[in-house]
Amino acid sequence: MVTTSAPGKAILFGEHSVVYGEPAVAVAIDARVEVSVEPCDGVWKMDGLSLDSGRHPHVVSLRNAVLGEDFQPHAIQVRSDLFSAAGLGSSAALSAAGCAALLSLSSQPLDEEKIATFAHHAEAQAQEGRASPIDTSTATLGGCVLVSNKREELANWKYTRNLETPEGEREWEIHSINLPSSASDIWLVVGYTGIHAPTTDLVKGVAELLSNKPEKMSDIARMGEVARNGVSALSVGDYIEVGKLMDEAHQLLVGLGVSCPELDDMVEVARRTSFGAKLTGAGGGGCMLALTDKPDETAAALEMRGGRVLVTPLGAPGVTLEKP
Ligand code: PMV
Repeated sequence: MVTTSAPGKAILFGEHSVVYGEPAVAVAIDARVEVSVEPCDGVWKMDGLSLDSGRHPHVVSLRNAVLGEDFQPHAIQVRSDLFSAAGLGSSAALSAAGCAALLSLSSQPLDEEKIATFAHHAEAQAQEGRASPIDTSTATLGGCVLVSNKREELANWKYTRNLETPEGEREWEIHSINLPSSASDIWLVVGYTGIHAPTTDLVKGVAELLSNKPEKMSDIARMGEVARNGVSALSVGDYIEVGKLMDEAHQLLVGLGVSCPELDDMVEVARRTSFGAKLTGAGGGGCMLALTDKPDETAAALEMRGGRVLVTPLGAPGVTLEKP
């Protein structure tokens, strides 16, 4: 049996503005998806059911790309620590861990760029050809990742990801951000509203807003500046400044109409014991996150508000071979 795992992610800066070419920063979180694969009789299986492209589009596309359709049948088991459909990247973590398991089965090296590429293509194939590489790159590389439409001097450039989308060829530059040793005393508290809001609807809402009010494009540009300033502050361990920028990012997202009363309430509560807080991901529900050196207090306050909570360091290991 081969077992692999990959982390979920939380977006620290740049959700929505990344769709318009601005940089985004994501952090791998300490909650993982684990994939185990072992030979079986009959047909390929996933969690006890036959593997099916309708039910499991990512996994079928990965199996075909990595091993080919005729590879001997295996049974795949998935275990996840993540709230699903909450914007924490559970499907990308499954794709990255699944890809690593299939590469390992066929004795191919676990090359990070290859895993990020296969996983990104699998995600795109399952989403009508459109997917940004933020989730799959963070699940693969771990740590803290910066995605931009150009090479950024603020971070370590790793590779270029491109994708043929219905709108034409798109290209992203993927970087990793080195965090200072002081980051080990700082925590992210992720609070889940329990509200499921589809990312596509929220992205569409922002597109409509920008088309009706083109002057809002200046807020998108400011979100890009906030993300770049956030990387600079993070790199030198200035968490007070990172927190202020998170607060500003939340206000800008509110201005785009992607927050909701539950998120605003949890953000407000979390700010009392943290450096800053904002919604994370597409919004409309899903999750918020706070940067804090008092994780127990922040988590308890959010739980009192009925949120489900996850406490994580800033970054977690990327795709990992647990049992070869
Ligand atoms: O789907 P989520 O919650 O991981 O976040 C989506 C991030 C957006 O910027 C809103 C959309 C995108 O494709 O980048």
